[in-house]
Formats: sequence, C-alpha cells, structure tokens
Amino acid sequence: MPLPDRFIEDLTMRNRIEEVASSYVNLRQRGRNFVGLCPFHGEKTPSFTIYPENNSFYCFGCGAGGDIITFVKKIEHLDYLDAVRFLADRAGLEMPRLEIDDTVSKLRRRCLEANREAARFYYELLYSPAGKEGLDYYHSRGYTDRTIKHFGLGFAPNGFHALLDHLRKKGFHDEELLSAGLCRRSQKGHLYDFFRYRVIVPIIDVRGNVIAFGGRVLDDSKPKYLNTGDTPVFKKTNNLFALNFAKEGERTLILCEGYMDVIAMHQAGFTNTVAALGTSFTEDHARLMARYADDVFLLFDSDAAGQQGLARAVDKLRTTGLRTRVVRIPDGKDADEYLRKHPPGDLKLLIERSPGDVEYQLSAIRARHTLTTTDGKFAYIQEAVKLIATLSNPIEQDLYAGRLAQETDVSKSVILQQLDSMKRRRKKRAEREVLPQELKKERQETQRINPEALQYPEAAAAEEALIGLLLMHPDYIEAAARELPAEDMLTSLNRKIYALLIERKQAGLLVELSLLAVSFEDDQMAYITRIWNKAGTLGGSEDDMQRYIRVIREQGSLSKINLNGDGSDDDMRRAMEALRKIKT
Ligand code: UTP
Ligand code: MN
Repeated sequence: MPLPDRFIEDLTMRNRIEEVASSYVNLRQRGRNFVGLCPFHGEKTPSFTIYPENNSFYCFGCGAGGDIITFVKKIEHLDYLDAVRFLADRAGLEMPRLEIDDTVSKLRRRCLEANREAARFYYELLYSPAGKEGLDYYHSRGYTDRTIKHFGLGFAPNGFHALLDHLRKKGFHDEELLSAGLCRRSQKGHLYDFFRYRVIVPIIDVRGNVIAFGGRVLDDSKPKYLNTGDTPVFKKTNNLFALNFAKEGERTLILCEGYMDVIAMHQAGFTNTVAALGTSFTEDHARLMARYADDVFLLFDSDAAGQQGLARAVDKLRTTGLRTRVVRIPDGKDADEYLRKHPPGDLKLLIERSPGDVEYQLSAIRARHTLTTTDGKFAYIQEAVKLIATLSNPIEQDLYAGRLAQETDVSKSVILQQLDSMKRRRKKRAEREVLPQELKKERQETQRINPEALQYPEAAAAEEALIGLLLMHPDYIEAAARELPAEDMLTSLNRKIYALLIERKQAGLLVELSLLAVSFEDDQMAYITRIWNKAGTLGGSEDDMQRYIRVIREQGSLSKINLNGDGSDDDMRRAMEALRKIKT
C-alpha cells in the first residue's frame, strides 16, 4: 500500500499508544510499562500491557497485540487505511493523497454514503403525503416533531423499490446497495427494498455516520422489528443506539432494551440513554459503554425476557469494572410505557433510588433459596459469600457481609471468616493458574500463527530470540544477514519477518513496528510484538546474537539429516549427536 514511511513515522511519533489507549482502558503504571484490563476480552486481573518504548501493546490473556495502528484497527473495528486516517485526524496530520483507493475502504465509504442518502430519503418521505401513516404513528406514540427531527426518524413506504429507484438515480450500484443491506436480491435476480412499510430509525455512530437502520411495523404484525444485518460498516454486537448523543453527558449511561424506549427517554430529558440493536447485550457492548461511562443504570422490561436480558447485561458490565445499578419499573412493561403514564420526575426518583448490581444479584440469589429452612439458609449464605468475595472493594465487602449477617441471623464474624477462606481459595487458584496458563497460551498462540514451530521447537525459539534482538538493535541486522541468509530460517513466518527486516535495512529504511503493520495480519503483528517485548528479558549482546544464529544453523543441518536420511539407526544416531551438541 502506497503510504510513505515518513508519514507513518510521523503518525506514530505523534500518537503515543499510552495516550490513545488510555481513552479506552484504565491504565496503571508498572515499571516502564502500563497495565490495565484488556479491552479485547473480559478479564478481572489486568494482563493487557502497553510498552511506550516501542509504542506497542500485548495482552497475555488473549494474545492480542501489535503497534498503535493495529490497536486502533481492533478497538475501533476499522481496516488498515481507516485506522491510519483515524490517527491522522487525532494528531492533526493531513493524509497523503493515495493513488488507488483501497477496495475495502472504498466499499465502506460507499455504504456510508448510501446509508446517509437513504436516511435523508426516509426522513423526507415522512413529511410528504406518502408518509402520513408513518407520521401519524410517531405522533400516536407521543413523539414530537422535534424528537423526530433530532433522531432523523423516517418512513419506508409500501412497495418494493422506492428506495432502490432513488439510490440508483443517485448513482449507487446494485452491489453497493446489497452490501449496505438496504436492498435484497430476489430469486429471479431483481433487487428490492429491505425495509417496506415500516417506520425507520437510523442508527448513527459516535462519529456521526449512518451505519444501519431499524424498522418497526405500524401495527401488530410480525416481525415487529427488522434491523440491518452485519455489513462492512455495521456489526450489531458492538454498536449502541443513540450513543452519538449519550456520550456527550457526564460519565453516566442508562441502558434500555429497545430503541423506541431510548427515543422516549431522550424526549423526557434522559439524554444519556442507549440500547443494543436487535441482539442481546454482549461483552463488546459493555466495553463500548466503559469508554464513555463509569456508572450504568439498567432499565429493562419487567417481563421474563427482560429480566433474563438484565441478568446477562449485569454480568457483562461487571467484568468491565463499570458500576452498575438496576432500576425496577413498578408498573408498565418498559421505559416508554412508564413515561406515557408518569412524569419524568417519577422516573428520575426511581433511578436515583435504584439498588446496585450486587444488591440486585443478592436478591436474585435469595429468591432461589428457601430461607426458612436451615439448609436453604446455609446454601444462600454460601452463594452470597461467593459473590461478595468477587468484589474488589474491601469496604463494600464488609458492608455486604454485615447485611448478610443481619438478614440470616448468623454472626458477622462467622460470615467474615467464611469470606476470608473464600478469598484465600480464590487467590490461590488465581496464583496457581496465571503463570503456567500464560505460558501455555503463549505456546499455543505461537504454534497457531507459526505452525512449523511445533516441528522445530529449538530453532523457532532461537529465531524468535534473534528477531527480537534485531528489532531492539536494528544496527545488528546487516551482520546477522551476512552470517545467516533469510532462507536459512526454518519456520516460514520467522523467515518472512527476518527477510523483511533485512530488506528494509539494506534499502536504508527504518525498522519500526508500525512500518511492519501493513505487511502482516493482526495476529502476526501480535506475535511480532510479543517477541520484540520478550527480547528485553533475554540477552541482547552481539555474543547472544551469535549464539542464536549458531542454534538456527545447527538445527538447520539437523533437519537436513532427517530429511535426506533413510530413517536408519545410523541417521538416528547422528541426529541425537547433533541435538546433544546444541544443548551444551
Ligand atoms: P421489544 O419487543 O421489547 O420492543 O423489543 P419495544 O421496545 O417494547 O417496542 P414497542 O414499544 O413495542 O415499539 C426490544 C428490542 O428488541 C429488538 C429490537 O432491538 C427492539 O428494540 N427486537 C424486538 C427485534 O430486533 N426484533 C423483534 O421482532 C422484536
Ligand atoms: Mn415498548
């Protein structure tokens, strides 16, 4: 891809990874590095590490890692070019003009343009005679024209090609309309509109792009809602409706179940309300919320499905470390219905008095046990203590222990004892698991990304050490190249990395992590980052380099013996001999 090195260097220099990452992750300094809870997988103890020294990150828990461009790609779900654009914007750098527009990035751009045009079409239609039914529907739900305009609500007419005709006239190609999910192809091969005879809610991301739509029927027919499926610009598991507005407030968000609830909430003044779209709440949603909030209020339907969704959301939100409270709606099924019967002030009180997630979970546990029997009480205490042991704040732990004691008529000191032993057990388990698990994971990752490492474990280890060392000391690259040509590396991924280092060095180009990002997949970048950062813990002198090269060479000739041999005892003996030599 034709982005000049100079530009990428400038970009990485002006975007320090610790600063960029700190707007997504709570970072704590540890020595020269920073650690925090990984934004790419759920965890309770931090294994996500930022290395300011080479502007990289690596998570020992899930194996995600790479340079700053890879970080932005992953966290913002962007492709390479858009991640570069994102960082350029952030640093106020102008993007160099590109000769060829990358096809993926071009399709994304066209999808966004088609969506924007579609949103305009649906909105304008709503206020034309053909949209009267839609407008009446919104008004019957109590939505004002101001609200309709604010959210850009619209209407898709009855018929199969109103939007299709409009967008074709605007110059959009069939493939673009299909990719954006605005149209479908019939069995006969004709395109037709996906949303028909529905009121339309555009989904807008935090950058102001129209990324998807939801459509509701005007009556009781099924399915009640249709939503855009996954497209190049939309993934339902990591977008929240109305986050573009909600993110502006204090770091508090309200989460509802449906987007009609959200619209009603905003109209009533709760402008920090969001909802997931046509899917249950995921860990990605939770992490997205954690970027904009410290506190989350859950305002879910009071029916059974709503309560189930609530339990799931509480669980996901807890793992991200958000403070979570649960608002119970006393009458009426959901927020929208409640607000039709009560003034906003009533809901405000409910929100202010809502219990924390721990209390909510405790009452859920309590509801599962019969506290009037000794067995039931015992089981309740066991389960409750287990929950309390997971809390990170000792004051909170003490408070809940006290409450539990009172409630069950068991002395607090006994409960605290129980809590202590539970915590000790958890701690031991964590200690026992963490280190070997990390090592195991690392080995598994390596074997997945560089499968030949399984066949040549010793050579692969030496290759990794050598590459790591050369990344730290690029000035050694030429000497290494003289002694060990790239083709002599045994495993193909290491060979590719090594060859690229040599090539860049010989061409007088810089060797920097971000300059490699364009040549490697994300998981390969994670691998390179890991061996680079590990190199700091291994020997980094010229002598060390010689030692690594020797091992690779010897393993190389050993593999040739194996390859050319006939499998006789003689071959075997020679192979064993070679192996012994390396080890000493
Ligand atoms: P609900 O069925 O609770 O809808 O679905 P609601 O918000 O009360 O809607 P109204 O008030 O009847 O208009 C909540 C959410 O579940 C998803 C949608 O995201 C909706 O906002 N859903 C529901 C679907 O995706 N498809 C459906 O058919 C129903
Ligand atoms: Mn509703």
